[in-house]
Amino acid sequence: MSLTYKIAVLAGDGIGPEVMAEAIDLLQKCAELDRFQVDLNESLVGGAAIDATGKALPKETLANCEASDAILFSSVGGPKWERLPPGEQPERAALLPLRKHFHLFANLRPALCLPELSAASPLRPDLVQGGFEILCIRELTGGLYFGQPKGTRVEHGETIAIDTMVYRKSEVERIAHLAFQIARTRKRKLVSVDKANVLENSLLWRAVLKEIAAVYPAVELTHLLVDNAAMQFIRAPKTFDVVVTENLFGDILSDELAMLTGSIGMLPSASLGTGQHGFYRFGLYEPSGGSAPDIAGQGIANPIAQILSVAMMLRYSFELEETAARIESAVRKTIAKGLRTKDIWSVGTKLVSTKEMGDEINGKLLTRNNCKMEGEEKSKKVAKEKRSVKKSKTVALPAKEIPAAPVAEKPATRKTTGSGTAKRPAGSSKAKEPSYEQVQLRAYFIGERRKSLGIPGDETSDWVQAELELKAELAAK
Ligand code: IPM
Ligand code: MG
Repeated sequence: MSLTYKIAVLAGDGIGPEVMAEAIDLLQKCAELDRFQVDLNESLVGGAAIDATGKALPKETLANCEASDAILFSSVGGPKWERLPPGEQPERAALLPLRKHFHLFANLRPALCLPELSAASPLRPDLVQGGFEILCIRELTGGLYFGQPKGTRVEHGETIAIDTMVYRKSEVERIAHLAFQIARTRKRKLVSVDKANVLENSLLWRAVLKEIAAVYPAVELTHLLVDNAAMQFIRAPKTFDVVVTENLFGDILSDELAMLTGSIGMLPSASLGTGQHGFYRFGLYEPSGGSAPDIAGQGIANPIAQILSVAMMLRYSFELEETAARIESAVRKTIAKGLRTKDIWSVGTKLVSTKEMGDEINGKLLTRNNCKMEGEEKSKKVAKEKRSVKKSKTVALPAKEIPAAPVAEKPATRKTTGSGTAKRPAGSSKAKEPSYEQVQLRAYFIGERRKSLGIPGDETSDWVQAELELKAELAAK
């Protein structure tokens, strides 16, 4: 039996449809090569949806997302819809509600500067030589974006605008745990960014980070004020590994990091929730950049961020690590071959269109032998990381230390959508070997789901066992 993953495809506006077309071609090729099925359901979102239905996030689109295992999103917005009342504009009326509705509190934005692309970085060559990778973890459903009160009114004859920055301790705790969990699978260095010399919110943020650091003694935690962080990223990007910060700072810093890598057109992102979709981790996957209306329709946009977002979806929502690595490897090979879209072009490289870039990456998926070799190397690396992490003292999380996360309301049919629901197949080699990072994250999300369902249980890093136990207990209920 082969796997079927149900995916809501929301191409949106601007360059969205062009880059999405390449990502879908590639996803279909991956499905063919690695023998899983994708059930792709396109829906309108953003300006395109406003034009067709009057709403940026029509009910049908939300229903499609709710019935899916993941959302593959592109971008929304553009000058055409800027004159609408703010609350009806694509960003506020589609993207933000999607994040909030699905409790997608964790936004992972890996800023990867490939060595071959260091020439595209605006930084001095000596600062980026050899490339770098910084993972920006941005809290996505709190802070100034969503705090109440919010609005504009006239007071004493003058217009005032109000945005409120609010963080609950539990919101900081869950993103902090996630950041530590990820940091301990990498270089074990976590930088928390705040503005603790001014903001009350940041005092809470910093205090919580410090408190939770005690649970992860293997990870070195440092704090940077946001203005200083903006400077240090430029001064010495290679000294950073994982950065965690609140919503607005993360929005700004992730664009800065993206630019340091050469182009925002290269960077994918994953917005993860708390596993409300049955036993599978639901996520929204989108390029970090926007709809780029200035270059839309010209066939020159870089499809790599969208393609790498597919890789993140396969890794985080479907645990198809090998396929995700296959895509990343194909992207690297294409870049190594010298193909460049306009945003990353430099003298001596070959300028290609969106479609040419997509086709080339697609073609490189077929070089299975190389992919296998890289896959094997990766497995060895993961095994080594597992051993070294075991040696360093990691402390199991006391159940009470992770707050129960809100659970999105889901249709009761969600877990029984027949062929639309992914099931782990007997004998499938693709789903068997999650990376160590995934194992950690999975255990974390299962722990959260237990608590949100009111089922007690110890934190464990054995997610397979945890999942079986949870399943049995739910069946017995
Ligand atoms: C991002 C974008 C969004 C944000 C906009 C489009 C609302 O800039 O994903 O970084 O501010 O979060
Ligand atoms: Mg942004």
